Amino acid sequence: MTLDIQNIRGQFPVLDQEVNGKPLIYLDNAATTQKPKAVLEALSSYYTHDNSNIHRGAHTLADRATRTYEKTRSAVRSFLNSKEEEEIIFTKGTTEGINLVASTFGRKFIKEGDEIIISTLEHHSNIVPWQMLCEEKGAVLKVIPINDKGEILIDEFDKLLTEKTKLVSIVHASNALGTINPIEEVISKAHKIGARVLIDGAQSSAHLEIDVQALDCDFFVMSAHKIYGPTGLGVLYGKREVLEAMPPYQGGGEMIKEVTFDKTTYNEIPFKFEAGTPNIADVIAFQKAIEFVNDLGKSNIRAHEESLLTYAVDKLSNIKGFIPVGTADKKVSVLSFLINGMHPFDVGMMLDASGIAVRTGHHCTQPLMNRFDLEGTVRASFSVYNTKEEVDRLVESVSKIAKLKNK
Ligand code: ALA
Repeated sequence: MTLDIQNIRGQFPVLDQEVNGKPLIYLDNAATTQKPKAVLEALSSYYTHDNSNIHRGAHTLADRATRTYEKTRSAVRSFLNSKEEEEIIFTKGTTEGINLVASTFGRKFIKEGDEIIISTLEHHSNIVPWQMLCEEKGAVLKVIPINDKGEILIDEFDKLLTEKTKLVSIVHASNALGTINPIEEVISKAHKIGARVLIDGAQSSAHLEIDVQALDCDFFVMSAHKIYGPTGLGVLYGKREVLEAMPPYQGGGEMIKEVTFDKTTYNEIPFKFEAGTPNIADVIAFQKAIEFVNDLGKSNIRAHEESLLTYAVDKLSNIKGFIPVGTADKKVSVLSFLINGMHPFDVGMMLDASGIAVRTGHHCTQPLMNRFDLEGTVRASFSVYNTKEEVDRLVESVSKIAKLKNK
């Protein structure tokens, strides 16, 4: 199905504005996507009509809010195709999902001398929690190297896997380069030696079909705001038997069955991991974001984004001084680049002067930047509401900027 992009754009009020006297071209979608009207209206409607605490009150509003909140859990279950709704835990985002696993699974199952494997492509949020855990436990963090295109070296991964490996935590799609990792292969190899696997789906969940049962991953984490949903909300999927074996994350209301001053017994999953009043409004609004994606169809979204990426790479490659960073065979719609002789920040500022929003810097992947001996890159990332005309304007601006240093 060919998508009606103008109609889609009409659902995103934020896109209809000028920045620095030019129509906004929003190409920072890997940082956060914009929100469709349906999500904005759901937020406003919840606070206008239904605001109430959930799972606690015996009154009508509490019941209504609880049912709508739980409907999102059900929508996320089918979005990820988990077996059970109880395997879906709401978090603050991908970062909290990883920290939750490091703190609870890590606390219980990682011992001195155990090994955890990550890859060179990881975001800081999939590095630092494991470093903290390894430091505390005397465990060892190992890193899968990559080639110059930005692809993990699977033979090297094979060599890192040992009987001491307890967990492999790897990104599905790189936020900095766009590389799609062969996670099916990673998961099956890790499982052969008995290690658990966490997939960081922050950058994949808006673009790629996710089926946690087919993947057989033990954990999958994602953020709502990268899938047209609100900020401050994420999802941790975990297999029931693993979640049940893990101790709770935070103590408080909701996560308990019974509390006495002598002893507390914990609630069942998912509530065991959702202490305190949750992010009710954003969870409810997230359902609209999922509906938005489902209505368009992920394969249609991906086809459109891929066509933009291919078009952009073709055009930009003709520009003298344009240097792509990350040229993996399989990528989501992320295009990192440099302009010869120019600092990424300067390029970003010049693009902003033309109304074009991109991200510049290390993209919270400093070890990856070090691998390429770079301080950072300029990153354009495409979403379903971007157009070929916008790519043309990006190309035109990059071409002008490149000419400043590349005669
Ligand atoms: N992790 C987000 C990014 O890549 C914020 O920009």
